[in-house]
Amino acid sequence: MRVVCLNNISPTGLNEFTKKYEIIDDLTKAELIVVRSAQMHDIDLPKKLLAIARAGAGVNNIPLDKMAEAGVVVFNTPGANANGVKELVIAGLLIASRDIVGGVNWVKANQTDEAISKSIEKAKVAFGGNEIFGKTIGVIGLGAVGGKVAEACFNLGMKVIGFDPYLSDEARSTLPNEIMLTDNLDQIYKVSDFMSLHLPLLDSTRYMMNEEVFEKVKPGCTLLNFSRDALVDDDDLEQAIASGKIKKYVTDFPNYKTANMENVICIPHLGASTEESEENCAYMACHELMKFVETGTIMNSVNYPRIDPGKQESVSRIVVLHQKEDLMVQFMDILFNKPVLNIITKTKGSKSVTIFDIDEDIPLDCLHKFKELEGVIRVRKIS
Ligand code: MLT
Repeated sequence: MRVVCLNNISPTGLNEFTKKYEIIDDLTKAELIVVRSAQMHDIDLPKKLLAIARAGAGVNNIPLDKMAEAGVVVFNTPGANANGVKELVIAGLLIASRDIVGGVNWVKANQTDEAISKSIEKAKVAFGGNEIFGKTIGVIGLGAVGGKVAEACFNLGMKVIGFDPYLSDEARSTLPNEIMLTDNLDQIYKVSDFMSLHLPLLDSTRYMMNEEVFEKVKPGCTLLNFSRDALVDDDDLEQAIASGKIKKYVTDFPNYKTANMENVICIPHLGASTEESEENCAYMACHELMKFVETGTIMNSVNYPRIDPGKQESVSRIVVLHQKEDLMVQFMDILFNKPVLNIITKTKGSKSVTIFDIDEDIPLDCLHKFKELEGVIRVRKIS
């Protein structure tokens, strides 16, 4: 199996690939891709591409629907870099509350002053601030990163109010009881001294922080965005900063506009740039790919359903990616008289995966019959 890495990927992950896998440079020959932030929207699809693993959570650099239509399963690595991002969010909170950056820059600019230890005491008045203890933070999105941010803020003595309409019972049970949950964003806007965004960039979340919202926020609120830049309407943000509604904006996703705005603290997308996060993401991404190739298992895909067929006990396993419609009758016609031991089928959105375990070798013509069925996107025999 030929693997192409579109970014630098930690050797901790790549070294996990067994001998069956070869890391190559030629994208046109890729059967598997590991990617971090490289833009994939304009690349020509390699003909034999089976799957892509994004070493990270956000997948807005990958054309998910196009990949799904082509039978390319896209994975991400939720949670693998969550601690790294959480720690940077906490740093963001602190550098927004006190002018630590201004102070550090002042020392650098005055490093030739032999009396600096005295001058500091006069100069420091310009770099004061507030403590975060006792302040209220609204955490919007309580997934892998948001949940950790909420918990860390609570442990730092903040009042935490969280919003996440998709919060699983499991995720809810790991949050401290003192964290207040709301299903009404307006409540968050009204009371928060800080708001932190932890949700994916989708059509439904694009520019969710806009004029209408800024009108509702508590005056002097600080907005933290360690998710994606386009969650925030930059023109509306500029107005909100000018009016004092938003005191500071801290972002790990600067763009030309925000990089040039007053009261904006820009970090160059460093959330997951820790050795630990890079290793965790790479490890998880490479294992997701191998598991899919070798067993058909799909965990953490963003464009195909989760499916776990378990250990293969049969002679053959066939993995069929297809449109959502029920093709079981046609499938069983093709497999008529074959010793089918197990069938598992799962659906997500408009795409389904069906896996057959069959206790005899399945000839190529049988696979061709599957491929010819309308609605079938890809058929693969594991062994
Ligand atoms: C993410 O979406 O998880 C981050 O953007 C990862 C990264 O920095 O590559």
